[in-house]
Amino acid sequence: MAQGFFVSKTLVLVGVLISAAALATIIALAVVYAQEKQKNSGSDLPEIPDTDSPSPSSLPTSSLPTSSLLPPSSPTPTPPPQPWDKYRLPETLKPEHYDLLLWPRLDKDPQKNYYFTGSSTVFFRCHQDTDVILIHCNKLTLAKWEDGELAKLHTTDDSPPPKIERSWLTNDTQYLVIKLRSKLSSGTNYSLSTEFEGALADDLSGFYRSEYINEHGKTRVIATTQMQPTDARKAFPCFDEPAMKATFNITLKYKEEYKAISNMLPLDNYTVTENKINWKVTTFNQTPKMSTYLLAFIVSDFEYLNEIANGTLIRIWARKQAIDEGQGNYALNVTGKILQFFESYYNITYPLPKSDQIALPDFNAGAMENWGLVTYRETALLYHPDLSSAGNKERVLKVIAHELAHQWFGNLVTIKWWNDLWLNEGFASYVEYLGADKVEQGWNVKDLIVLKDVYKVFAIDALTSSHPLSSDEIEINTPAEINELFDAISYSKGASILRMLSNFLTERVFVKGLNAYLQKFSYGNTVYTDLFGCLQEAVNESNLKLPGTINEIMSRWTRQMGFPVVTIDTKSGHVSQKHFLLDPNSTVTRPSKYNYTWIVPITWMKRNSAPQTDWLLNSQGLFPIMNPSGDEWILANINVTGYYRVNYDEENWKKLVNHLLINHTDLPVINRAQIMADSFNLARAKYRNTTAALETTRYLSKELEYIPWEAALENLAYFQLMFDRNDVFGPMRDYMRQQVENLYNHFKTETNNWTKFPDSLMDQYSMINAVRVACGHGLLDCQEMAQAFYRKWMNNSMVNPIPVDLKSSVYCNAIALGNEKQWDFAWKMLQKTTIATEADKLRSALACTKQSWLLNRYLEYTLDTSKIRKQDATKTIISIARNVIGQPLAWDFIRAKWKYIYQQYGGGSFSFSSLIKGVTERFSTEFELQQLEQFKKDNQEIGFGSGTRALEQALENTKANIKWVDENKDSVKKWFITAVKPQSSKIKSLL
Ligand code: BES
Ligand code: ZN
Repeated sequence: MAQGFFVSKTLVLVGVLISAAALATIIALAVVYAQEKQKNSGSDLPEIPDTDSPSPSSLPTSSLPTSSLLPPSSPTPTPPPQPWDKYRLPETLKPEHYDLLLWPRLDKDPQKNYYFTGSSTVFFRCHQDTDVILIHCNKLTLAKWEDGELAKLHTTDDSPPPKIERSWLTNDTQYLVIKLRSKLSSGTNYSLSTEFEGALADDLSGFYRSEYINEHGKTRVIATTQMQPTDARKAFPCFDEPAMKATFNITLKYKEEYKAISNMLPLDNYTVTENKINWKVTTFNQTPKMSTYLLAFIVSDFEYLNEIANGTLIRIWARKQAIDEGQGNYALNVTGKILQFFESYYNITYPLPKSDQIALPDFNAGAMENWGLVTYRETALLYHPDLSSAGNKERVLKVIAHELAHQWFGNLVTIKWWNDLWLNEGFASYVEYLGADKVEQGWNVKDLIVLKDVYKVFAIDALTSSHPLSSDEIEINTPAEINELFDAISYSKGASILRMLSNFLTERVFVKGLNAYLQKFSYGNTVYTDLFGCLQEAVNESNLKLPGTINEIMSRWTRQMGFPVVTIDTKSGHVSQKHFLLDPNSTVTRPSKYNYTWIVPITWMKRNSAPQTDWLLNSQGLFPIMNPSGDEWILANINVTGYYRVNYDEENWKKLVNHLLINHTDLPVINRAQIMADSFNLARAKYRNTTAALETTRYLSKELEYIPWEAALENLAYFQLMFDRNDVFGPMRDYMRQQVENLYNHFKTETNNWTKFPDSLMDQYSMINAVRVACGHGLLDCQEMAQAFYRKWMNNSMVNPIPVDLKSSVYCNAIALGNEKQWDFAWKMLQKTTIATEADKLRSALACTKQSWLLNRYLEYTLDTSKIRKQDATKTIISIARNVIGQPLAWDFIRAKWKYIYQQYGGGSFSFSSLIKGVTERFSTEFELQQLEQFKKDNQEIGFGSGTRALEQALENTKANIKWVDENKDSVKKWFITAVKPQSSKIKSLL
């Protein structure tokens, strides 16, 4: 070990004591360190320490009797778990500030791949005497200091710090452990310095590498971060829990051709020259007190668009080509408006001096709310005015609104621990609709929450394998347990019940309580009942009458899984509730202290009268006021603001269904969707007949609106999954074609034969559905249209003549009806495109081919990151499984390669569980159930990580499917046959 290295470390010691000089010293250290490394001829760190915990024998002996003193027959006493064996940090030490330098190497080192080095000093306070320092650290190699230890401890006065007895890294709990010879004392401040190196891998987590090919055909590398939930520890040693808030001074070092950004604006920039290479060093302003999971730092050659709105600098960063093509314009245009909306909704100004948003070519989730530097996958931020669809635009708007909502709710005020993740994500998932609606007022985007959140999550919250929204703090410990919380329950049930709450409190009271909460807990941490407490105060100051406290009402929704079906006997006004289970024969093993009853706000109306709210407090109640006369119907859960399904007496159902057939527009559009969605699900749970549910779809031949159609299609998609491999499918296709024909013809005329397109978002969506269903179920006119468009494109690949909103359907159908030629053409176009939304459409359409060999080849491509980016791999496999031909191929594929797939994607959150869901969705035979059980058995050892729950859900769903198919196949087939009018079978299909 060269001397200079230690001298520089001593310098650090002096430097940290004089806090103003600390940063510069660390940088100087890094420079010297780098020079040292070069001297050491490529060996990067002085010594590679071992990463194992000390063997028990090397640990201090405890006062407990050792096993050798016990009689041989006695069991060995298990030593109490050491603090480093626990996943949660002890309360002994709390960080206050970090000085952090990171230096990513973006040129590939011929010997050792891409990597980064860094140095960090954390200043912390001792709150309880302790002789162990635990700080998270994962997959980093730490340099040894002159005493051979992995960190250097300092006091902030002149007193000597306790000596380190031993320091080591733990694999499982991901700590750097520093065992001291004497104790740190409560009330005293210390600092701890480390130097480290990590791989700048393409693993989409921690400090990682993303690559793209620029407009000159050159591969460019960028270094970026994804910390949430537990990967900041992969970038630098830190107290990596959300309540361990601290301030951060971040410094980045990089070559002059790049730019560096972080949570805050730069404070200082200078250049250092080493071996004739100029390195730029940027120090950033100190952050406010914040959690580690919200940190971000990025070195890239990206360009940006900017504007100042309301005193806040807004920048949109992306590849130069994307910026030049105007793909960042929409994001820039809406960001200021969204920030302004949230400033007024939260009644707090945006907490930071700037807001950066960046589109990354490789990104695991959709987007991440890092404070002041939000990261996105390209499709979630970039919008091409000519080449992206209406759906792409809505997605961009909503994702931006979601992440900006977190800048206050989540970032300024943060959950104490991940068990309350639902509050963070559920809240953002609710108010993203409010933010989006403010910007695009004509879109009616708020209505979509019913389809995309309420109904989406009903499907899994109606299973016995569901779980309560809220978990206890002690239940959530490991990174896998934390990752598993990022599920539809947290997001969509969270959003749905907060929407219900805001509705029954009225928005005025909800916002008042929310404002108080954000004020009170700024820069701090909370548990979810803190929000309810502030809302309660707002209620107390209002003249609102509620049947209990907010906590009493809401704990039924947060602390027990599932939701009720409310049954209304409209004649007697008798109303009752029951835990809604999709499989009526399944048994709930999870106990609930509320016995699966809820306090339910029931909004209801009679025809032509204003809605009113009554509360159902117990399992039954009486609403005598209902009393409908003659053909008057009752409709409950208006606009589905309540998180429950509704059942009526058969007579009321008949009146509603009749009214749909006579004059459907008399009923609110969301409730038209609800009548079908609730009927289908009540039928699945045996409250109604399946054929009665099918009856509710007859009126669709007149329906033009997106929301009811989409609700019906989502439910009928289940029929398709269950029946597309047997003889029900023929009659089902005939029925679907018959029902959609009017919608298809309406849009064909409206668009003047697919040449000019509707303005309203919902109409565009409805048109897309018309084409998707018509083509998908073999309407000849539609299929010919799709093929003609695609042929034209193949004849001149330079000009794509396909209207952007029809692209997904046209590509998919042309590839399904075509062969290798059509497939290869789309593949070629996929390689060429620099528009991420276009790439998404092509990638999903490639899964539509009916040729097994093409599908198998495509599955293999998902393992080759030069063909399919890692971020897109699981989605691609899922789209192949959705294809009836691809389904068994995808299942074989993931079974055969489970270990590899698990290693690649198992640690992450969303996509992994959707992979399991995706490949098992069609399972409905005993044989498939056996295979699934076998799969579970065979892979016990490898495990299922964040997909564990998804596997349980898949098993439960498969069992329910088997029964359902058995019970319904014949009657459904008969129903479809009789529901098809004779002339409809003349509508021919190519397939
Ligand atoms: N905080 C999440 C991102 C995230 C998800 C980090 C999972 C770590 C694990 C972010 O706020 C988010 O929710 N993103 C969504 C988009 C949003 C519009 C629902 C996503 O990534 O899909
Ligand atoms: Zn979020």
